[in-house]
Amino acid sequence: MKRIAVFTSGGDSPGMNACIRAVVRTAIFKGIEVYAIHRGYEGMIDGDIKRMQSHSVSNIVQRGGTKLKSARSQEFRTPEGRKKAYDNLMLHGIEGLVAIGGDGTFTGAKLFYEEFGIPTVGCPGTIDNDLYGTDYTIGFDTAVNTALEAIDKIRDTAAAHDRIFFIEVMGRDAGFIAVESAIGGGAEFVMVPETKTDLDAVVKSLKHLRKSKTSSIIVVAEGDDAGNAQTVMEIVKDKLQDSTKDFKVTTLGHIQRGGSPTARDRVLASRCGMAAVEGLLEGYQFHMAGVINQEVVYTPFADCIGKSKPLIQDHLKLVEILSI
Ligand code: F6P
Repeated sequence: MKRIAVFTSGGDSPGMNACIRAVVRTAIFKGIEVYAIHRGYEGMIDGDIKRMQSHSVSNIVQRGGTKLKSARSQEFRTPEGRKKAYDNLMLHGIEGLVAIGGDGTFTGAKLFYEEFGIPTVGCPGTIDNDLYGTDYTIGFDTAVNTALEAIDKIRDTAAAHDRIFFIEVMGRDAGFIAVESAIGGGAEFVMVPETKTDLDAVVKSLKHLRKSKTSSIIVVAEGDDAGNAQTVMEIVKDKLQDSTKDFKVTTLGHIQRGGSPTARDRVLASRCGMAAVEGLLEGYQFHMAGVINQEVVYTPFADCIGKSKPLIQDHLKLVEILSI
């Protein structure tokens, strides 16, 4: 393999730049020409493809976002769009791809490989941590720390006013960000999509906690089955019937996607980026390079997107026990 291309796709995540840097520099180190595709699958369709040199990725390891930009491409969902993308890759003589993104990115990569046979290795780039085949995804640690910083600040004002705060965090259908930020932020409750939320039980505990605590933090994952933080707050407020309490909602939103990546994310991103290039050279063709128990592991895209990654149940218990 003499020429590869790298791209980022789907929601950006802190550490994607460190991953791009690792892909570009590992490829150059191995004597391979490396190209960048801008704006993910959109750029592949438009032929937005440029040669990268070592200096092209200077001074980005510490930056959030993605230097290559990202997009969620509708056109790539069509056979015509994918054919255009393939033709552009052939025009540039691209023999292998490194796709940095989450489940949508790998769903596209799997289909593209099945249709056109271009070997592709993925790197897990998403704040959601919802990919099977890696203990953590690139950007998750930074997102949790961003959420934590916000929760700490909210706790100060919650305590000052004896308020009950419902804080909504991202994660799409997964509760990883919610659980880790709830543990780290000392939340009284966490609500996640993976387990059924019993609001009556929450109300009962809040009543009980009134004896020992004057304020409470409840972390709500955006995909929770009971609804978003606003809905959940209204239901709990209605059931609790406590006129001495103020109820507030904060939705953290896209601040969780930005910012300088943590050391953990930079190291994970660098390892996955290097492993992706090495994987292509070793013959992996439709796999994601992740890290499990500190070891690089290659998992077929079908499993990464098809198998679900369970929450650590002990973590939920931890929030419950430590909130008394
Ligand atoms: O997948 C990352 C993520 O930030 C999710 O946590 C969230 O549900 C979604 O992307 C938001 O997507 P968008 O930036 O397109 O609104």
